[in-house]
Amino acid sequence: MATWNLTETQHHVLICNGGSCMKQQGEEVTQAIRAEITAQGADALIHTTRTRCNGRCQDACVVTVYPEGVWYQNMTPESGRAMVLEHLLQGNPLQEHVVYSFQDRFMATGNGPEGKFKQI
Ligand code: FES
Repeated sequence: MATWNLTETQHHVLICNGGSCMKQQGEEVTQAIRAEITAQGADALIHTTRTRCNGRCQDACVVTVYPEGVWYQNMTPESGRAMVLEHLLQGNPLQEHVVYSFQDRFMATGNGPEGKFKQI
């Protein structure tokens, strides 16, 4: 159990550990992202959380980054490490993996499946 002080935190990374994502290297993606954050001395800047299903299983393995509101698809240990270096530490999201980014709402990039709408 931990209670972190998040006042230095610039990014919150949610790593999907739901069933579909775990079949697509979810554990390895989680470990790679966390190891790269530590290797870069960025633990105070980047907080990570394992989640259950994020509702975009066809995108497995799914990783989301806040406060930017960037949703990544098809993440691997390699792209996870690149995300830490290029997006989280340099501000350049991995465009080829981005399925949504947030402006005034989530905007699809066209990289991923459209998905179905929830009933209103
Ligand atoms: S299990 Fe990851 S989005 Fe569903």
